[in-house]
Amino acid sequence: MDPVKPGPLATTEESSAVERDTLTLIDNRTGKKYEVRISQGTIRALDLRQIKLDQDDFGLMSYDPAFTNTVSCKSRITFIDGDRGILRYRGYPIEELAEKSTYLETAYLILYGELPTRQQLEDWTYRVSHHTFIHESIKKFLDGFHYDAHPMGMLISTIAALSAFYPEAKDVFNADSRRKQIWRLIGKMPTVAAFAYRHSLGMPYVYPDNELSYTGNFLNMLFRMTELRYRPNPTVERALEVLFILHADHEQNCSANTMRNVGSSHADPYSATAAACAALYGPLHGGANEEVLRMLMEIGSLGRVPEYIKRVKAGEKKLMGFGHRVYKNYDPRAKIIKHIADEVFEVTGRNPLREIALECERIALQEDYFVSRKLYPNVDFYTGLIYQSMGFPVTMFPVLFAIARTAGWVAQWEEMLLDPEQKIARPRQVYCGHEQRSYIPIQQRGL
Ligand code: ACO
Repeated sequence: MDPVKPGPLATTEESSAVERDTLTLIDNRTGKKYEVRISQGTIRALDLRQIKLDQDDFGLMSYDPAFTNTVSCKSRITFIDGDRGILRYRGYPIEELAEKSTYLETAYLILYGELPTRQQLEDWTYRVSHHTFIHESIKKFLDGFHYDAHPMGMLISTIAALSAFYPEAKDVFNADSRRKQIWRLIGKMPTVAAFAYRHSLGMPYVYPDNELSYTGNFLNMLFRMTELRYRPNPTVERALEVLFILHADHEQNCSANTMRNVGSSHADPYSATAAACAALYGPLHGGANEEVLRMLMEIGSLGRVPEYIKRVKAGEKKLMGFGHRVYKNYDPRAKIIKHIADEVFEVTGRNPLREIALECERIALQEDYFVSRKLYPNVDFYTGLIYQSMGFPVTMFPVLFAIARTAGWVAQWEEMLLDPEQKIARPRQVYCGHEQRSYIPIQQRGL
């Protein structure tokens, strides 16, 4: 993918031969014609700026609230074709990675662009697993939260607090420092998450066990009781591994965009990751899996599904876990997750909410409301059920998402920092407020 050269924009009076990969625009206000270069299916927004009414005019801009049709970067990390339901990391289909890879190997791939050699994987695993411990003062920091604090709130603030523990992380253009912060972030996320969980139960923290896999160690820190050595259930450990692979990156979504935005001011990666976690927390993004479970509990029985769907169609409710900004087809991750759910339920026993979820999906996929809007189950529709069966409380669901997504966030962050075309992110606005007016003293403003 070659960088797009800044597109020369010329009025057609200036350029005689009209190039093929261009767009001709006519400004009906002035009658002038412009030619804008098209590259990789985009035009440069800045090329529009030369379309002016007169010399004093600022120039034309594009208006795109929520960035529904704006490309903010060039990326080589994740490819999505929402219409065809395709998701690939660095060219590798998600289905193959979910079947054959591990989370740490996938994280390496996402970050460095290639699958690691055996030696590279060994080094990478060693580095990440040797950065899983957190400073003892972080434990005290966690102790300051109430027992009923939402673990996502604890995670966001604790990750932000890490920036105060690693001041060298500010040196974002130092490759060695960046590498180290990446090991730390991927290594420490499960520890902070598990400690937040244990804190909410009033239970002693369990320290990392470097002999276990990434997800095995996480389960150990969450669930170990009096055993001398925690042995994770292999089905649950592998299922969590696959769920983490599926959530590892998803190109320019709300939280990745936040990571890039905050990182574009050259803030340290802990602050940027905390901001990305905050973006993920919302119910329209990573908080959706929590909302799906709450919705299924609210529905409560198979017989009440049609009534709920009726309320969704009336605009009173949302069918959480359905719909996606990019996928206008079945989310490929949801297909894999449905399969894992059955494997996990064999170990943990059936989750009674599963039948309600299946019924919601069955009815929704037949209803014109959902079909015409291309609303299909997304990644979150079934993950909550699996997490619940694994023993996680609902409030931990977005935390699990955040752990997995850290690989994607740091990859997006580093790609942004090293991209010579990127600058501090700074959108424009259309000002619709008052014209200039004079200050009114308070005595003259009425009651
Ligand atoms: N239930 C009911 N109606 C829906 C849903 C839903 N889950 N999702 C979209 N719609 C409707 C909208 O009301 C709208 O209808 P209208 O045209 O009559 O106004 C139409 O479908 C298009 O929806 P938009 O809001 O324009 O779609 P957008 O791309 O902005 O939103 C989003 C995508 C936020 C994911 C949305 O589908 C949603 O809120 N889903 C539920 C929350 C959820 O599951 N989020 C997880 C997303 S995956 C992730 O972040 C990991």
